Amino acid sequence: MKIAFFDAKPYDKPSFDQFSAEHDVIFKYFETKLNEDTVDLASGFDGVCVFVNDTVNAAVIDRLCELGIQVVALRCAGFNNVDLQYAFGRIHVLRVPAYSPYAVAEHAIAMLLTSIRRIHKAFIRTRDYNFSLAGMTGFDLHGKTVGVIGTGRIGRVFINICRGFGMKVLAYDKYPAEGLDNGDTIRYVPLDILFAESDIISLHCPLTEDTYHIIDEESLIKCKRGVVLLNTSRGALVDAEALLSGIKSRKVGAACLDVYEEESELFFEDFSGHILNDDTLARLISMPNVIVTSHQAFLTEEALANIAETTVTNIVGFFRNRQCPNEVCCKCGSTTDCMNGICF
Ligand code: NAI
Repeated sequence: MKIAFFDAKPYDKPSFDQFSAEHDVIFKYFETKLNEDTVDLASGFDGVCVFVNDTVNAAVIDRLCELGIQVVALRCAGFNNVDLQYAFGRIHVLRVPAYSPYAVAEHAIAMLLTSIRRIHKAFIRTRDYNFSLAGMTGFDLHGKTVGVIGTGRIGRVFINICRGFGMKVLAYDKYPAEGLDNGDTIRYVPLDILFAESDIISLHCPLTEDTYHIIDEESLIKCKRGVVLLNTSRGALVDAEALLSGIKSRKVGAACLDVYEEESELFFEDFSGHILNDDTLARLISMPNVIVTSHQAFLTEEALANIAETTVTNIVGFFRNRQCPNEVCCKCGSTTDCMNGICF
C-alpha cells in the first residue's frame, strides 16, 4: 500500500515510520498541502493521507479518482475540509476519531490559565528583570461558570478538569450525553442561557452548517461583559471580525484561539520576518488579552503515536479487509450511526 502523505511535518515522520514499518504501508512524505494544484503528486499511489488544512473539494476528489486513488485517510478527527457530499460514491474517507482528548482539553486549560493569570506577560517581564505586578491581576477559576459547547470526547475531558477547579458547568450539545447532567454542578442548558450566564465559554463541537460562526455578533451580544472565549475546535466556529469588535468594545475580556478561520495558509508555517497580510489575525495577535497558538492543541507525544497507529490501522483495514470502523459516512456525514464499515 503506497500512500501519498501531504502536509508532512518533521514531527509526523517518526511515529508514522514506526507504525508503517510494522505493516505493509509505505508513506511518501510531501511537505506541500493537498489541493487542486498539488493533487497530481498522488499519481501512482493507492491512497492519500491528509490533515486539517489540506483541501479535499470536488475538483480534488475528481482528480484523485482519475488517478485511481481509492481512499482519503485523514489523520485528524475533524473532516470539514472534505466535501463529503461529493465524496459519496466516489472515494472512501477514513479518519482518526480520537487520539488524545486530553491533549486538546489540557491545551485549552493551559491557554485559559495563561490568559487569566497573565503568564504570557509575566514570562516576558521577568526575562527583562521587570518584577512589577502592575496590570497582572487575574481572577480565580473556582466558583466561575464555564459554558461548554460540544460535550463529546474532548468536551467531557475539559468539563472534568473544570470540575477539578471547582467551576460550575453549563453545557450545550445538539446530542446531549446521557448521564452527564447532574442537575447541579453540570447542567445542559439552551445556548442562549449558556451565553448569558457563562464567565468562560469553550468550544468543543465540530464545524458544521449549524455551528458555523456559532460565536458571532449576535451571540456576543447575549454574553456577559468580560466573557473569556476559548476556541480549540475549528476556526470558523468564531466570526473573527465580530470577536475583534467584541474585544475592542471590551465585551470580550479575553480570547484564547488555537484555531482561526483563515488559518490554512498560515498555521504550521514560519512567517517570521514576513509581513502578515491578514489584518484581522494581526490585530487579534496585537491585543494584550488575546493568545493565539497555531493549531497545536493536538501536539503531544501520546496523540502523535495514537494518530499514526490509528491511521495505519485504518489504511490496512481498508485495503486488506475492505472494512474500516473509522470510515466517515460520506452519504450522511455521520460518524456515529453509520460506522459499520464501507459506506457505499
Ligand atoms: P466528538 O465527536 O467526540 O464530540 C463533538 C460533540 O459536538 C458531540 O457531542 C456532538 O454531539 C457535538 N455537536 C455536534 N453538532 C453540534 C452542534 N450543532 N451544536 C453543539 N454540539 C454539537 O469530537 P471531539 O473528539 O470531542 O472533538 C471536538 C472537536 O475538536 C472536533 O470536531 C475538532 O474540530 C476539534 N479538534 C481540535 C484539535 C486541535 O488540535 N485544536 C484536535 C482534535 C479535535
